[in-house]
Amino acid sequence: MTPLASLLAERIKAEGPISLHDFMQEALFHPEFGYYVAEPPFGAKGDFVTAPEISQMFGELIGLWTVDCWAKLGAPSLINLIELGPGNGTLMQDALRSAKLAPEFIQALNIHMVEASDQLQSVQREKLKDHEISWHKNFPDNVQGPCLIIGNEFLDALPIRQFVYSNPLLERHVALDENGFCFEDLPIGRNSDADPTSFGSLEEGDIFEICPGALDTVRNIARMLTKNSGAALFLDYGSQSGKAGDSFQAVRHHKFSKPLENPGQSDLTAHVDFKRLVQAADQAGCKILPIESQGRFLERLGIEARVLQLSKNASEIQKEQITSAHRRLVSSEEMGTLFKAMSFYCGMMAPPAGFGD
Ligand SMILES: C[S@@+](CC[C@H](N)C(=O)[O-])C[C@H]1O[C@@H](n2cnc3c(N)ncnc32)[C@H](O)[C@@H]1O
Repeated sequence: MTPLASLLAERIKAEGPISLHDFMQEALFHPEFGYYVAEPPFGAKGDFVTAPEISQMFGELIGLWTVDCWAKLGAPSLINLIELGPGNGTLMQDALRSAKLAPEFIQALNIHMVEASDQLQSVQREKLKDHEISWHKNFPDNVQGPCLIIGNEFLDALPIRQFVYSNPLLERHVALDENGFCFEDLPIGRNSDADPTSFGSLEEGDIFEICPGALDTVRNIARMLTKNSGAALFLDYGSQSGKAGDSFQAVRHHKFSKPLENPGQSDLTAHVDFKRLVQAADQAGCKILPIESQGRFLERLGIEARVLQLSKNASEIQKEQITSAHRRLVSSEEMGTLFKAMSFYCGMMAPPAGFGD
């Protein structure tokens, strides 16, 4: 049993089953034993590898995306660049390097990193020590002026609630039995905001999910953009169908594992529900773009040209690494289709790059 499993088991014995949402929140961010609070989870030695860690090209292209947005905002003399969940800080490091092509953009930059984990904040501070950056534990609501907001694999890390369609409606909880943690579905309270009607026709026993944190994040950002102007870009895995289903999953040492086993020592995530997030941004008054696959998004931003450029002076081994990273990022068999790009914006002369025909 992990130390966190013992604590959660004690809590369940004392208080009864806890919601899946609270289990996920504790597993990821318990102040002592949470997954993001303890050991660094990224890279070949960790549990998973994210796009910025696969290749510098990812962050570089996003850097150019931000420069393009800034130009479409009329090249203001101050622009806030806010990254949510920056992990090791690699995306920002690569983005700032490519953005140097536009010195006026670099001069206008006010950079903010939103990172809940102290441990990851110190990794980011070390990696980005040559840049002036403000760190925040929560989204900075009081930022003045136009904003560019980016987040890679941030939304999938926010806790979800799961409901089971039946009469009465049930919410999925985590309980204890003789074998350890197990799911228990309990009738929902009267004030729950679960709405099965938006998931189409459901059958008894179907599971549907909502991610309150992702919806709140997108709503807050969209409201801020309507006031301050700017654009948001999120890349993550998920679907745009808006359909019901169980996407709660755990990854440990690069393999799927059982989500209730090893809380605090495996990465718990859920697929991002892009359909509802885009609707939330739309309702908050932002212009929205059709969701794009990560592969197509990166191709539109010019990843092939960057592959050629990087390969020019590369050794044979480096060329193979560049080709392999390119394939991982864009191929449908790898991250290219499951991962998607979502953007919404306000007050720009033209839509952000990378979307549409
Ligand atoms: C899956 S990692 C992605 C890291 C990085 N963006 C990358 O692509 O490598 C999720 C990141 O979001 C952070 N995070 C998760 N929930 C958060 C929250 N509620 N507030 C701030 N940061 C959060 C984690 O600590 C971590 O840095």
